[in-house]
Amino acid sequence: MLRSNTEHIFKIIQIVIEFDNWSLFFLFFFTILFFIIKAIQDFFAAPSFEPKREIQFIKKIFHIQIREIIYIFRGAKAMESFFYRSKMSGDLMRYDGRVAIVTGAGAGLGREYALLLAERGAKVVVNDLGGTNSGEGASTRAADLVVNEIKSKGGIAVADYNSVVDGAKVVETAIDNFGRVDIVINNAGILRDRSILKISDQDWDLVHDVHLKGSFKVTQAAWPHMKKQNYGRIIMTSSNSGIYGNFGQANYSAAKMGLIGLANTVAIEGDKYNIHCNVIIPTAASRLTQGILPDMLFDELKPQLIAPVVAYLCHKLCEDNGTYIESAAGWAAKVHSVRGKGCVLRTSIEQDIVTPEYVRDVWSKVTNMKDAQHVDNIAEVSGHLIQVLENLQDRKLNDFEDDFKFSAKDLILYALGIGATVKDANDLRFLYENDADFQPIPSFFVLPGLLLSMSTNLVSSALPEGKADLTNILHGEQYLEICDDIPTSGSLTSTGEVFDVMDKGSGAVVVTNTNSFDENGRLLVKNQSSIFVVGAGKFGGKKNPVNGVIPILPAPKRSPDFTIQYKTSKDQAALYRLSGDLNPLHIDPNFSLIAGYKIPILHGLCSMGFSVRAVLAKYANNNSSLFKCVKVRFAAPIIPGQTLKIDMWKEGKRIHFVTSIVETGKNVIIGAYMDLKEITAKL
Ligand SMILES: *[C@@H]1O[C@H](CO)[C@@H](O)[C@H](O)[C@H]1NC(C)=O
Ligand SMILES: *[C@@H]1O[C@H](CO)[C@@H](O)[C@H](O)[C@H]1NC(C)=O
Ligand SMILES: *[C@@H]1O[C@H](CO)[C@@H](O)[C@H](O)[C@H]1NC(C)=O
Ligand SMILES: *[C@@H]1O[C@H](CO)[C@@H](O)[C@H](O)[C@H]1NC(C)=O
Ligand SMILES: *[C@@H]1O[C@H](CO)[C@@H](O)[C@H](O)[C@H]1NC(C)=O
Ligand SMILES: *[C@@H]1O[C@H](CO)[C@@H](O)[C@H](O)[C@H]1NC(C)=O
Repeated sequence: MLRSNTEHIFKIIQIVIEFDNWSLFFLFFFTILFFIIKAIQDFFAAPSFEPKREIQFIKKIFHIQIREIIYIFRGAKAMESFFYRSKMSGDLMRYDGRVAIVTGAGAGLGREYALLLAERGAKVVVNDLGGTNSGEGASTRAADLVVNEIKSKGGIAVADYNSVVDGAKVVETAIDNFGRVDIVINNAGILRDRSILKISDQDWDLVHDVHLKGSFKVTQAAWPHMKKQNYGRIIMTSSNSGIYGNFGQANYSAAKMGLIGLANTVAIEGDKYNIHCNVIIPTAASRLTQGILPDMLFDELKPQLIAPVVAYLCHKLCEDNGTYIESAAGWAAKVHSVRGKGCVLRTSIEQDIVTPEYVRDVWSKVTNMKDAQHVDNIAEVSGHLIQVLENLQDRKLNDFEDDFKFSAKDLILYALGIGATVKDANDLRFLYENDADFQPIPSFFVLPGLLLSMSTNLVSSALPEGKADLTNILHGEQYLEICDDIPTSGSLTSTGEVFDVMDKGSGAVVVTNTNSFDENGRLLVKNQSSIFVVGAGKFGGKKNPVNGVIPILPAPKRSPDFTIQYKTSKDQAALYRLSGDLNPLHIDPNFSLIAGYKIPILHGLCSMGFSVRAVLAKYANNNSSLFKCVKVRFAAPIIPGQTLKIDMWKEGKRIHFVTSIVETGKNVIIGAYMDLKEITAKL
């Protein structure tokens, strides 16, 4: 009963659908009603009273009937789209008056192109060498078969048996028969695979002849006609074997990639004559794909699913040119090349040496595709190079760029690294992401800049040739400024530049500036650091800093206003290094011995972190928001386990401090100060 109902309903749909979509809506409404009435009828017409009959009744309405309705709905959907398509027939894309050459049109994709264009009004030159489909016996020419098929459907076509290498003759066929040529689909191709060692010269040439030279010859011959009429649509057929490579197809891949190059230039040259050239990258069922692809996929690689894509590319409406479209199995996508941001391998016009070691060191930057972009044309490429050189000339090293991602976990690890502890209730805000006042300790933000200078040749590039021995560098001074509200997670992009270079005799001081921006381009952190390169001096450079190098300031002469002591742990460096500075000097006893320390030393920036924490605790309510900037000079190292003493002097919003080692009395940080945005009322 249900089946016949369905058929009945289908009939109704067929009739109703010819009216409009509103009828469709009402149809569903009445269909549902119909089934419910039908079910009620069944219920009462049942011969005898059965137990659970009510349940069956309900089931019928809500289960079987619903399935039925869905079934009909699907059918109606299909019909609706059919209806829609025929309704739009006024907009049907036609090719009336256009003459199309399709090479290799005797079978497969070419045949589908020819059939589709002919069906839609184009006059088609069906080019095919005249081989048989299977290669055996039959004498019917493939091109003739396709022409006959077109004609039998009322289309217009003519066969052409020339090799595409004789492109002029192919085009002649079009001109002789139809007087013009508007569309060229370069589709002819051959395939016989060998691995690279086994390819003969002859085979190489053959493949290039058919694919590359053939496409070139036909296109060239059609060109004057297209140019004269100021209209042309050219398709090149490339292949995934070219774009991605494929074992055993060296000759074929090379030729197929060659077609993309050809299309790029033809698109440019044709632009002003309204001649567009685009590329189709089809995957169709063929000997090549048979046996390699799963049957399920293979069966779906029907050439007729690709033909409409090519037809669109050949239509007047299609504005693309120089576009590559990959298509298969009723799917299509644009393919295009992108280029990474790249990395400058030198930092000044004067320094024109690039070493393989440096290339190795920055390889991850060279190959980083994170911000890759498409390059539209070759002018853009040279424009970019000129920009790089200009930046070098201006010593604008914008290319020193690094991304730095951080989350609550990183902030907590850093806080632990500089001694924050749950023993102090107030420190919870630095150690627990769910604390109502969770916040970063501001000195955390020296890290992006640090990682930047470690991962680039920012420092070495600033020094004269031969002076860039970085095995013996000391972190001299550090300045850090927080410019805006700091988030507790996010991603910062830092750009760095060499700001100043000084010749101090015993060494050189390189001053670098880094700015770190958040995802919205907001400047969050400014960082300036001075690196002392031992033994790199005496190059005749200036001794004094330029304006803008932030000076240290002596502490007031009076005795400190306040002092805080923090005992560091033996594992302090082991913990701190996890925040990013993995220099073995701070953990590897053998390494530190070589560097001249009996025991691995604590990171200078770690003692800076302790000091910042002390000032925040005493003068800023433990509130990072009040931090503006800090400046320190590193005087001597401290060994993990020793005790830090931070002496502080308050001068308005500026807190001077000196950090020393309780056990030895030696100064670790001198000339330092921290500026606060405001002084809390409590103080
Ligand atoms: C590619 O080279 C191989 C090996 O020389 C050859 O067998 C094959 O025919 C060539 N491919 C085509 C399409 O000619
Ligand atoms: C050809 O392509 C280029 C880049 O794809 C585009 O800028 C240009 O406008 C196109 N020309 C025409 C006539 O559409
Ligand atoms: C930022 O600070 C770090 C830590 O001292 C330093 O190593 C780095 O060079 C600074 N960044 C720049 C480029 O100024
Ligand atoms: C340090 O050197 C000693 C002796 O050469 C060696 O046995 C040890 O494994 C080294 N330690 C590290 C951490 O490399
Ligand atoms: C800040 O935190 C420290 C450590 O928990 C605490 O000793 C100090 O009293 C706090 N400062 C203020 C102003 O609350
Ligand atoms: C920190 O200081 C800022 C600015 O004065 C203030 O808005 C904020 O409420 C303070 N936060 C805490 C936890 O005291």
